[in-house]
Amino acid sequence: MDEPGALPDLRPREIRPGVWVCANPTEVARAAARQFVDLAWQFIARAGQFCVALSGGKTPQLLYSLLASDEYRNQIDWAKVHLFWGDERPVAPESPESNYGLARRELIVRVPLPLANAHRMEAERPNIGRAAQEYEDLLRQYLELDAAGWPRFHSILLGMGADGHTASLFPGARRLSNTLRWVSTPLVPKLGTRRMTLTLPVINAAHNVTFLVVGQDKAETLRAVLDGQADPPVPSQLVALASGRKLFLIDPAAAGRLDAPTSPPSAAGKPAKTPEGSR
Ligand code: 6PG
Repeated sequence: MDEPGALPDLRPREIRPGVWVCANPTEVARAAARQFVDLAWQFIARAGQFCVALSGGKTPQLLYSLLASDEYRNQIDWAKVHLFWGDERPVAPESPESNYGLARRELIVRVPLPLANAHRMEAERPNIGRAAQEYEDLLRQYLELDAAGWPRFHSILLGMGADGHTASLFPGARRLSNTLRWVSTPLVPKLGTRRMTLTLPVINAAHNVTFLVVGQDKAETLRAVLDGQADPPVPSQLVALASGRKLFLIDPAAAGRLDAPTSPPSAAGKPAKTPEGSR
């Protein structure tokens, strides 16, 4: 409990390995922005470029606008960043429903990212299967392959729906794991439409996957996902990286069904562990 008048302790708290509770949704975005900068530096130094797949939905909006802010914009060599998407809805980029559109409004037009470095999923095309194949061909140009032949993103940002879906991998979908596709176009019964999405093997081959999960409506599902108790397992639970690092950045509302924090922020003199620092 903070002393009366003391500044609130906004530092993220690790409540399980790789699961960090941040003080509020803005601090979730801030922790994600710090990690984005960290990984961009790492992979630009190591591979000459940073290939990251962005998430859709509402939760990443704060992150995108923070990355475009004075606080973060100049910390990233945007010319060496390549933006991809984890999934997309079958709508035009101008649509308020477009995942690309959200990132364009909040981030892409506000940072010196060459437009050619924003690789949109053209999920609105009548032949969505053809568009998915072309997106696979595009990934081949940018991503190294792992020993099993799967493309390795440097970072994939994911959200989670209250039903446990992630990207556009929804509960009940067939062939989630046993597919050879890198990009698929599942028909989502509850939406009555097809979506374009990275497949589970591609997500699991990534160097880094970061879930951003906020809101009380996701608390029960998040507990089941982290405890591995959803039966049958929901897609978010099936994200198990072959050799990469998975991180959850969540807010107190989403953490509402999880046990109390284990590691206090900083024992005397020892630097506090941070999400982007812990391996
Ligand atoms: C999409 C997403 C999806 C999203 C979750 C959470 O296109 O809808 O990629 O997987 O991340 O639905 O969405 P919210 O952040 O809006 O809760």
